[in-house]
Amino acid sequence: MSELEDLFDNNRAWAESMQRMEPTFFQDLSKGQSPAYLWIGCADSRVPASQVIGLQPGEVFVHRNVANLVVHTDLNLLSVLQYAVDVLQVRHVLVVGHYGCGGVRAAYGNADNGLIDNWLRHIKEVQYRHRAQLETIVDKEQRLATLCELNVQSQVANVCHTSIVQHAWRRDQRLSVHGWIYNLQDGLLKDLGCTVESAAGVADAFRVVN
Ligand code: CO
Repeated sequence: MSELEDLFDNNRAWAESMQRMEPTFFQDLSKGQSPAYLWIGCADSRVPASQVIGLQPGEVFVHRNVANLVVHTDLNLLSVLQYAVDVLQVRHVLVVGHYGCGGVRAAYGNADNGLIDNWLRHIKEVQYRHRAQLETIVDKEQRLATLCELNVQSQVANVCHTSIVQHAWRRDQRLSVHGWIYNLQDGLLKDLGCTVESAAGVADAFRVVN
């Protein structure tokens, strides 16, 4: 149990230091949150959302799952997205993947991983859709890195395809959806340049109109 007690020690030390720096920090935050960002990232322990972008409690709303997927039947993600967009009115949705993602690696292979393969199949579809591009990359690690990037771009599109985001744009709410990737080896983020800021960036087939 001592290792868990360490966590409580850490927590007390952290709470005290926060309070020392800003005596009303917790009281102020307890009144409500208005984060400007929704982070959709991988559950990987090496990619802690707020630390990576240097933000404090209250500044980023976070959803994490294996391989930062946006699946249209995932009630958990859709609920987070709806709350973030409709209620919190975040300005930016950040879909953040990372190189060296175990989920992407597992999806790329052909091993039987059990239940999780049903989740990873969404990445498999990205791999299959982009097989021509991927097959031109000789180095396997480079191919996996590219698949990590393609996965992020695909999930950005999925965010934009939701009625939640399209309704926000229809009522002229300012909302941008970005695709970033994190490098475990140097701690740096890269913008993949696939930002979508309006319904004009959504393919016709996925556009909700009326
Ligand atoms: Co990952």
